[in-house]
Amino acid sequence: MNERDREPGVFARSLFAGLPRRYDRLAEILSFGQNGRWRRAMVGHVVGGRPARILDVATGPAGVARQIAARSPAHVVGIDLSEPMLREGLANVARSAQGDRIALVLGRGEELPFPDGSFDGLTFTYLLRYVADPAATLRELARVVKPGGPVASLEFAVPTARVWRALWWLYTRGILPVAGLVTGGRAWFDVGRFLGPSISDHYRRYPVDATVAAWEKAGINEVSVQRMSLGGGIVMWGRKAP
Ligand SMILES: C[S@@+](CC[C@H](N)C(=O)[O-])C[C@H]1O[C@@H](n2cnc3c(N)ncnc32)[C@H](O)[C@@H]1O
Repeated sequence: MNERDREPGVFARSLFAGLPRRYDRLAEILSFGQNGRWRRAMVGHVVGGRPARILDVATGPAGVARQIAARSPAHVVGIDLSEPMLREGLANVARSAQGDRIALVLGRGEELPFPDGSFDGLTFTYLLRYVADPAATLRELARVVKPGGPVASLEFAVPTARVWRALWWLYTRGILPVAGLVTGGRAWFDVGRFLGPSISDHYRRYPVDATVAAWEKAGINEVSVQRMSLGGGIVMWGRKAP
């Protein structure tokens, strides 16, 4: 049985419990600084048009939420199922110049505690590998966005070119767990060991084209895909159908 098919959220909660304190720094180091580039690209797709209210799903330590608030006048709500991640997020928000426009909420992307159409835009980052039914989750995410509002996501990906895919495989299976252990200790070893197989498994089950189709079925139009950093990251964006 796949880890995400167990009790909803239990696996993700335990995986992320030991990561919050060093999350932002190690996410940058272990992605060779690429996570920041991918995040800026994703946020760029939701901050145009002076949105009033944006939801960031799987917000973790609120790095995406803080960036949205810094780059737009929006009030941002970040939601995540991990209490330790949200506690770190609260400390980060308190230190942020835009902290008064950011609220954090405990909850799951699969069951958002918000009415239909209550946000002008929505982001989600590294979420779909942790949910049992990505298509149903996409429908739930789209539900809370106003017609015409932008939706954007960021996820790891498997490079398509053979040479980069081989190097990516070596990095994720061999180097990442060791680098995680050295820089962050046992919890980062565990996540480093988990990530490569989790990413490969996800795209075997849900290839990018199938995910684009699931976005469209969820009522998101004009879906575009940008593979970044030789294919190691993927940003997707679209608009809730009018
Ligand atoms: C890799 S972290 C990314 C955090 C943040 N988006 C960022 O990029 O800095 C993934 C986050 O997804 C959260 N998560 C996993 N499954 C979730 C779910 N079903 N609903 C809400 N959050 C979830 C985890 O708790 C974790 O904080």
